[in-house]
Amino acid sequence: MKIFTSFIIGLLVFDCNKQPIADNNPEPEEEQTADTSLRNLSPFPFGAAVNINLLKNRPAYRNLVIEEFNSVTAENAMKIRFIHPQQNTYDWADADYLVDFAEEHDMRVHGHNLVWHQNLPDWITSFQGDSAAWENIMKTHIQTVVTRYKGRVASWDVVNEALDNDGHGLRESLWLSNLGPDYIARAFEYAHEADPDALLFYNDYGNEFGPTKRNAIVDLVTGLKNRNIPIHGIGMQMHTRFNREDNFHEAAITSAAATGLMVHISELDIAVNPNNDPNLTYTPAIQSQQAQKYFHIARTFHNIADTLRHGITTWNVSDADTWITGRYERPDWPLPFDENYQRKTAYYRILEAVNP
Ligand code: XIL
Repeated sequence: MKIFTSFIIGLLVFDCNKQPIADNNPEPEEEQTADTSLRNLSPFPFGAAVNINLLKNRPAYRNLVIEEFNSVTAENAMKIRFIHPQQNTYDWADADYLVDFAEEHDMRVHGHNLVWHQNLPDWITSFQGDSAAWENIMKTHIQTVVTRYKGRVASWDVVNEALDNDGHGLRESLWLSNLGPDYIARAFEYAHEADPDALLFYNDYGNEFGPTKRNAIVDLVTGLKNRNIPIHGIGMQMHTRFNREDNFHEAAITSAAATGLMVHISELDIAVNPNNDPNLTYTPAIQSQQAQKYFHIARTFHNIADTLRHGITTWNVSDADTWITGRYERPDWPLPFDENYQRKTAYYRILEAVNP
């Protein structure tokens, strides 16, 4: 009943504002069943990044995650600074909580992430040692974390954002400077040794920026694949914006699929305030344009080969929890659920896209 009511309210809002209702909008009859959810209707895993505090303490958040998603990623809890705060100390509490939660609710866990230039603990940023000592840090971290969740975390972002912002080369980082460019390949090998059944991803942003970054990512993963490095997929973060042209999103998704690797849209959100307007109003017209982007991205993903579809994961759940507002210090409404955990127009367009 709640679902039906919010759908009707959604339609009324649409109507009152005289927004054209596209022909392919969902019919109300299709939306009335209690089991209408992304997890039930999507033919591929549909996930969200989650914040463990909210999962524990905000019932509306927790219930929504349980009802809607069948894949979860820790927004922060598995990152090195949190899970490995001292050289000989691991803090498993939040990651364990998430993995237990996921098993209880029949969800897949996607691990994020093992090797990244950000979120390094002080013991790493101040570490002094030769390349063998650095290699030992990377290998030990990867293998300790992957081994702990062997058989329980289905897939990992092994290396995150190794390319620079524009895709002109590898990003400067402590890993690159201490280990050389082949740290990327070795990170995959170490992870594979620890859990040979886990699917291993290279994760980055900007596939949708244009050909330079897109090709740099494709070249990097193709090079690894051709060397028989155990890489299984491309994670495309896809922190994008409501006014980016569809062909950029389309090229990102189809070029990733053309590698033959699995594809994960791993951190999807669609900002509506890319110019940082402090007074922006989230009008029905903006909502509708944003929903259309969600539709297009989800439908393009739906249309790649089903064997390549690792899934779509949004970066957190609702507009109340998004990292975008804090990161850019601006109002924004980038997710498919509103601040009250109600479904937005974007939500219905995604359902329609994945369940044609
Ligand atoms: C972000 C989180 O959402 C924030 O809470 C945190 O403060 C910083 O990191 N690319 C990634 C994610 O791979 O791990 C980042 O997550 C967003 C950009």
